[in-house]
Amino acid sequence: MTNAVQLEAVSKVYGKGQGAVAALREVSVRIPAGSFTAVMGPSGSGKSTFLHCAAGLDTPSSGSVRLGDTELAGMDETRLTKLRRRRVGFVFQSFNLVPSLNVLENITLPTRLAKARVEREWLDEIVVRVGLTGRVGHRPAQLSGGQQQRVAIARA
Ligand SMILES: Nc1ncnc2c1ncn2[C@@H]1O[C@H](COP(=O)(O)OP(=O)(O)OP(=O)(O)O)[C@@H](O)[C@H]1O
Ligand SMILES: [Mg+2]
Repeated sequence: MTNAVQLEAVSKVYGKGQGAVAALREVSVRIPAGSFTAVMGPSGSGKSTFLHCAAGLDTPSSGSVRLGDTELAGMDETRLTKLRRRRVGFVFQSFNLVPSLNVLENITLPTRLAKARVEREWLDEIVVRVGLTGRVGHRPAQLSGGQQQRVAIARA
């Protein structure tokens, strides 16, 4: 069975000395391709940190992260950026939409950055599926929190 993501002994410590916070301590997990996994835990227990490390958005303090067959440890920022653009869709806890772009522009931004063609029919279908018909010309500030998060889901 192929793994979508595999973490081996991943630790993440924020800060140094007295104020250091260990958000992850030696986390090892395999997530099979095509599976659906929920990560649950109290606020501050490290869920976002785990997801950021698993998606190559943040670098662990130690341990190994593999996306498919690709080991992320030791990759430079340029290669990580390309890998994220091609292989990772991510919905952030706090949206991370571009405020100056409208809904349609936010959804298609990663595709356009990758210089790939935006398929108009697929785009229209995605907009309908996430329930944003009639809102495509709006900027994030003109949307509710739930609508903004659905833009992020469509972008992912
Ligand atoms: N950039 C940072 N600098 C210092 N500490 C951080 C940083 N980011 C997160 N932390 C700390 O790491 C721990 C884990 O945070 P994380 O955001 O992963 O939690 P979470 O499980 O996603 O919480 P929530 O359910 O509230 O979103 C927390 O104690 C938090 O204060
Ligand atoms: Mg979180």
